[in-house]
Amino acid sequence: MSHEFPKGFLWGGATSAAQVEGGFAEGGRGPSHLDYLQYRAPSQRQGRSLMQITEEEYWDNKKHADQRNLAFRRGSDFVHHVEEDIRYFGEMGFKTYRMSISWSRLFPTGTESEPLAEGVAFYHQVFQTCHRYGIEPLVTMIHYDIPAYLTETLNGWENPEVIDYFLRYARFLIDEYKQEVKYWLTFNEINMICWSPYLGGGMFVEKSRRNRLSCIHQALHHQFIASALTVSYAHETAPGLMMGNMTQRSQFYPLTCKPDDVLLTLKSDQFNLFFNDVMVFGEYPYFIKKYYADHDIHINPVENFEAILKAGTVDFISFSYYFTSVVNSELQEPVENFVKQQKNPYLKDSEWGWTIDPTGLRIALNQLYDRYHKPCFVTENGLGARDEISPDGKIHDAYRIAYLRDHIRAMQEAIEDGVELLGYTIWGCLDLVSMSDIQMSKRYGMIYVDADDEGNGTYRRRKKDSFDWYKKVIASNGSDL
Ligand code: BG6
Repeated sequence: MSHEFPKGFLWGGATSAAQVEGGFAEGGRGPSHLDYLQYRAPSQRQGRSLMQITEEEYWDNKKHADQRNLAFRRGSDFVHHVEEDIRYFGEMGFKTYRMSISWSRLFPTGTESEPLAEGVAFYHQVFQTCHRYGIEPLVTMIHYDIPAYLTETLNGWENPEVIDYFLRYARFLIDEYKQEVKYWLTFNEINMICWSPYLGGGMFVEKSRRNRLSCIHQALHHQFIASALTVSYAHETAPGLMMGNMTQRSQFYPLTCKPDDVLLTLKSDQFNLFFNDVMVFGEYPYFIKKYYADHDIHINPVENFEAILKAGTVDFISFSYYFTSVVNSELQEPVENFVKQQKNPYLKDSEWGWTIDPTGLRIALNQLYDRYHKPCFVTENGLGARDEISPDGKIHDAYRIAYLRDHIRAMQEAIEDGVELLGYTIWGCLDLVSMSDIQMSKRYGMIYVDADDEGNGTYRRRKKDSFDWYKKVIASNGSDL
């Protein structure tokens, strides 16, 4: 099959501020809560994710920051490579570049009434450089990182005061950059707060007076409100803007056709769709009320929340897609576990244990479009792998090309099924610090960055084989894979 993608399809790549920027204290930038996350080798993690940090560990990392490997402070040193990196994106033919803004580069503690001039100018420079290369920026307002001050003093998103601070930031972004940025996402993977309250909520559940799930869902409620108010503001003040949401799409398969497996798959799926339901339909779905009752979840709703959510629904839905999971009712796994460990005998895994399943992407696109009837955007997809520099000085990442080719084919098929798809941004187009593993050696890019897990290296960029391959794909609008 060699079909072209729709005219105007937004081919591109994606990164986030914390994972690429570096320059963590430049221009008066304040620390973000991710600046205190420490890389540890798998053997030193005691079975815990690096995102499951306690408040005690946080303060310890802060106290001994100079001796800790705090990789999000370095990223890929994008702040010093803006021109070069975007030139590479332009050379590949990107139509869009998905990136995020570091809230604390503009408002160091999140509470200031005026932003830092240097931060404001920095993002103008990035957007203007993109436009020079014919690239439309697609900007995420929160890709996890929030000013550390808000974590320390307010327990992050659990506290309703953060909504007002966020709105000051979000409205500033729209007012300041609306001429340069048409596509916006409010929160990256808003559903990941359930997997890591620290990552997604910038908070410590042990510090809360609520039970764990109430703390998570209170913070999530605040994020839904913050997002809806932002979308409403954008629609009112800049009608041409396209406002989207973003979730991590976990596609679930029942282990067998046993009705209990099928039922639990349905429940898991409903739970994951709940985040989209609120942001697309503007209301909490019926099934979540029972989930709250069953799990002793109590939240204080924001006044007038029903009207706020209804008024601020998104224009398109976007999602990350990496793997699919198998649901086994005998394991009694909670529905909020998006990353189930049950092996799928029909699929291969990446080195990090993520299943490789292009057909799952076609299924996800059909399912989401079928439910929401909104244009879709695959804002993250890619293969995390170790890359070696060959004796010829090149990086022959045929495995990445194969992965991307298969997923692009799956999108092509979904479009033929009738799905409206706006674009595709390959995750980590520039090598960056992995989020869950906080390391450089889990690489996603078409552009290699010379840095290791400890931050040693020149940070010099070089093209991988996938660079030329993707260039050809974009030039042929997806017909030459
Ligand atoms: C998504 C995140 O979950 O997956 C990214 O939005 C992240 O920030 C990406 O980097 C890949 O995950 P990881 O853990 O391999 O970096």
